[in-house]
Amino acid sequence: MNEDKVANPTIIVIFGAGGDLTHRKLMPAIYNLYLDGLIPQRFAVLGLDIKDLSDESFRKGLFEGVDQFSRREKIDKSKWKVFEEFLHYQKADFTADSTYTVLNKQISAFEKECDCIVNRIFYMAIPPMFIETIAQKIGEAGLAQNSQVSRIVVEKPFGHDLDSAKKLNSLLDDIFQESQVYRIDHYLGKETVQNILAFRFANALFEPIWNRNYIDNVQITVAEQIGVENRGSYYDHAGALRDMIQNHLMQLLCLIAMEPPVSFDADEIRNRKVDVLHAVRKIKREEVHAVAVRGQYDEGWFEGKKVKAYREEPGVDKNSNTETFAAIKLYIDNWRWQGVPFYLRTGKRMNETISVITIQFRPVPHQSFPIESINNWESNRLILNIQPNMGIQLRFQAKRPGLKMLLDPVNMLYDFYNPDSLGPPEAYETLLFDTLMGDATLFMRADQVEAAWSILMPIIDVWAANTTPGFPNYTVGMQGPEGAEALIAKDSHNWILTPLKRR
Ligand code: BG6
Repeated sequence: MNEDKVANPTIIVIFGAGGDLTHRKLMPAIYNLYLDGLIPQRFAVLGLDIKDLSDESFRKGLFEGVDQFSRREKIDKSKWKVFEEFLHYQKADFTADSTYTVLNKQISAFEKECDCIVNRIFYMAIPPMFIETIAQKIGEAGLAQNSQVSRIVVEKPFGHDLDSAKKLNSLLDDIFQESQVYRIDHYLGKETVQNILAFRFANALFEPIWNRNYIDNVQITVAEQIGVENRGSYYDHAGALRDMIQNHLMQLLCLIAMEPPVSFDADEIRNRKVDVLHAVRKIKREEVHAVAVRGQYDEGWFEGKKVKAYREEPGVDKNSNTETFAAIKLYIDNWRWQGVPFYLRTGKRMNETISVITIQFRPVPHQSFPIESINNWESNRLILNIQPNMGIQLRFQAKRPGLKMLLDPVNMLYDFYNPDSLGPPEAYETLLFDTLMGDATLFMRADQVEAAWSILMPIIDVWAANTTPGFPNYTVGMQGPEGAEALIAKDSHNWILTPLKRR
């Protein structure tokens, strides 16, 4: 995000403007960009959806969403009055040719008003089944022809498996150039995730030890206390592997394991990330049981309230075999990481909401302190706290103050929290701004998405072919099923979760 510049005149066309994503994420992000002076002066949002809404009722609904979900305090009504003039609505059937004829006319009218060619961003805030039709119709209507000004933004899930992702990539490739396609993974817009690049490549200190000679194992945990909420019908066809590991956790893995980029160019960064995915050791089907564990949550008590088992959630099959927890172990076969296990886990209805990456260093080669001084001893550890609290902790041994030589592990902490600031931009603000500016660094390229699917396909196939009689196998308040502990314990490691605690 380079805030010095503002984009050229732009129209954002949101397909699915009546949905939750627009309400909770997109519009608060656009409004915050507006308040920060980061949207062009000549700007329009055109919301398309099946509902029959006037501009006025569309704006009213968006006002409520922004008021509730923006990182800023309540909306300043006088500022909103000016902003809402940018927002327009059009009832639309996404499958009808006439929708795109009208859209073409609306874009032309806006260009006439601006007296220039405007950037047009087609945002797919719709269920995946509509993407192909809409992309095709955009192409047929000639709306994607000018590759300098038209962009399409596609939300995850990008495909349902490797074959469908390839099919979708190939369809988009027929209509758009790769540089026009912005595949969103909102984790890449998070401040702390972007900071991994700064931490690794703007400091000389860590690079010499960032390899198999010093690092024992790497753990990536994305845990959520919430269940599937009202998304049961989507989630039951996805599961934790597809919903979280294929995208968010794989992206974190890439940032931790990638080689230093030569420049900050979008393709250079993405090339280095794809190198990591290509180096991940292929999992054989017969090994799946040894490197992957799945779980599904049962009913339980959370904050004094009874919560439903996954199979009782609305939209979920009563005999569902879908995993709400997944843990996997990967190896990266290259010089830097040979033999270092990467453990990835994610789950819903876990004991806490936390995303954290732990770099566990090797033990000292020789222990010179007597046993009584080191009974608290731990190997060094670097903890990247992604959320909810954002920061970096380095854990090392220090002498306990006193007459005796006793050692304790202590933390050195960099905390992102600044009581005087509004907080960093939301992931969607960063990603929308980058889309406006035409910077694809934080978006996934076609080959990256396919490489991530390739890694997981053996697990997906084996799990689909074998139901789990043990489901449900964990309850809210646990750190997932017991098998996840066994997965890591058999390598003589244990899951480490070090939340960032403020004094
Ligand atoms: C989404 C998943 O991509 O990420 C959700 O579909 C998940 O299931 C969400 O809850 C987590 O995002 P965040 O930003 O809250 O960690």
